[in-house]
Amino acid sequence: MKAVRFHEFGGPEVLRVEEVPDPVGDTLVDVTAIGLNYGETVIRRGKGRELFPWYPGPSLPAVLGSEVVGVTQDGRRVMGVPRDGAYATKAVIENPIDVPDDVSDHEALALLLQGTTAVAATKAVRIQPGDRVLVEAASGGVGSLLVQLAQRAGATVLQASSKGGIGYDWDGLEPVDVVFESIGGAVGRRAFELLKDGVGRMVVFGYASGEPLDVTASDIFRKGVAVMGLPQNTTPEEVLGMGLKPVLGDVYRLDEIAEAHRALEARTTKGKLIARP
Ligand SMILES: NC(=O)c1ccc[n+]([C@@H]2O[C@H](COP(=O)([O-])OP(=O)(O)OC[C@H]3O[C@@H](n4cnc5c(N)ncnc54)[C@H](OP(=O)(O)O)[C@@H]3O)[C@@H](O)[C@H]2O)c1
Repeated sequence: MKAVRFHEFGGPEVLRVEEVPDPVGDTLVDVTAIGLNYGETVIRRGKGRELFPWYPGPSLPAVLGSEVVGVTQDGRRVMGVPRDGAYATKAVIENPIDVPDDVSDHEALALLLQGTTAVAATKAVRIQPGDRVLVEAASGGVGSLLVQLAQRAGATVLQASSKGGIGYDWDGLEPVDVVFESIGGAVGRRAFELLKDGVGRMVVFGYASGEPLDVTASDIFRKGVAVMGLPQNTTPEEVLGMGLKPVLGDVYRLDEIAEAHRALEARTTKGKLIARP
């Protein structure tokens, strides 16, 4: 089969299409679509261990990616997390989930990791009708789903993005009840200070700036707010049943995945990116 591998950490140019042996396992699928995620650019750069020390980095050469849709030998159309990386024409999925006929490959991939992340993050902060909610990276895969989920819960949603909404200059902004924090660094710090004292809730699920959120227990004590991680309480089946309408971003070929990584790092993408083998 073909796979996009990298033999050394570095820029998008380290990703190369190569011929490799087929994986062996119970649920072998012919991959029809591959989900691309911002976090994979971090691992490719070799920053994974530094930013997520609890997550073992790949041993090289490696195949990136953690979500595919594919067709099994007996014709089932399934999605799931591939055992040996996703950027390939075949994959072994250990716990395959059937994809409903009325859900496209692109929609299924938008709801798998990004969807479960968005739904779990929303559960964490318990939005009340009328809450003011700040969504960072609101044009992105996770962000665009968070906007829908917060609106459904009756919130007033402030969409921060370099591609529109309120941007990241928040001078004069009224405090907010909830922040969905995925950028870290100076942006995350300013978002934390925007939380309403005594009632604010922030859920942290990413560091797109490359710098973790720098907030101490003393900061949390001073403001009387809650800062939470992502609960592990949401399944893809649950998300598929919620009727969310993901924003479907660009589609790449296998040999164009490096280009997708460039776009993710340049912050020019919107919604869910996928590749077709
Ligand atoms: N995909 C998942 O399943 C998953 C799971 C857990 C956590 N996360 C985290 O959630 C966040 C969003 O993930 P996603 O997959 O939906 O990606 P995404 O939002 O589609 O892409 C990342 C976005 O982050 C924003 N950003 C802010 N500062 C950036 C910087 N210095 N460099 C690059 N981008 C920057 C950009 O949006 P603007 O230009 O609009 O600011 C960019 O478009 C990421 O931090 C990711 O690590 C994702």
